[in-house]
Amino acid sequence: MAVSTSYSRTQIVLHWVVFALIAQQYLFKDAMSDAWQRLTEGGEAGFDLLVLAHVAGGALVFLLALWRLGLRSRHGVPAAIESSRVQGVIAKLTHLGLYALMILMPLSGAVAWFGGVDLAAQGHNILKIILLALIALHVVGALYHQFILRDGTMARMRRVQG
Ligand code: HEM
Ligand code: HEM
Repeated sequence: MAVSTSYSRTQIVLHWVVFALIAQQYLFKDAMSDAWQRLTEGGEAGFDLLVLAHVAGGALVFLLALWRLGLRSRHGVPAAIESSRVQGVIAKLTHLGLYALMILMPLSGAVAWFGGVDLAAQGHNILKIILLALIALHVVGALYHQFILRDGTMARMRRVQG
């Protein structure tokens, strides 16, 4: 994989756009759950803008995650700022897990929604907890870098370093 000295502007913008999209998936999740319940009870889902936003927002997360992975391999990412080996490994595994879930969440959701597969909905419901836990760990890590280590990690995701 290529190594760079900074995240590019595109990588930074994509990081925060995806953050906003995932936030809305959780904030407005009830509309999707209600529609799914109506469907599984044999009713009609009906049209709901928030359901459309869940499907489209999730699909966008999937596409943008693939774009980000492409950028990682072509542009690269800056070398990790590690305070210890263990912390470095935890950060790498967290990033890997976040990417995996940005792909698996939309896939499981789509199989449930378009294929009517209940097992996929159950998987989606388990993955949503794992994703939330990883995001919490990721944010704690970012705050730890910012306020305890004060090593400039946070600034790398705010603007292009140069
Ligand atoms: C990153 C992308 C996504 C995230 C973070 C996400 C997150 C969530 C969350 C938090 C719920 C609420 C579950 C609950 O507590 O009741 C949910 C439900 C659901 N989502 Fe997603 N979702 C994503 C993508 C998608 C996509 C692309 C689809 C469909 C094309 C989809 C279909 C569903 C369905 C059918 C449910 C109802 C499942 C149930 O209530 O058992 N999701 N999603
Ligand atoms: C949905 C929520 C989030 C997801 C899925 C996510 C995902 C990621 C991923 C995959 C990376 C690795 C770099 C890359 O390849 O793009 C990263 C880096 C980073 N994220 Fe997040 N992030 C989220 C929210 C946040 C939040 C809320 C903060 C700040 C409080 C944050 C701060 C950072 C920082 C500072 C880096 C750079 C780490 C480094 O340079 O080693 N992220 N994020």
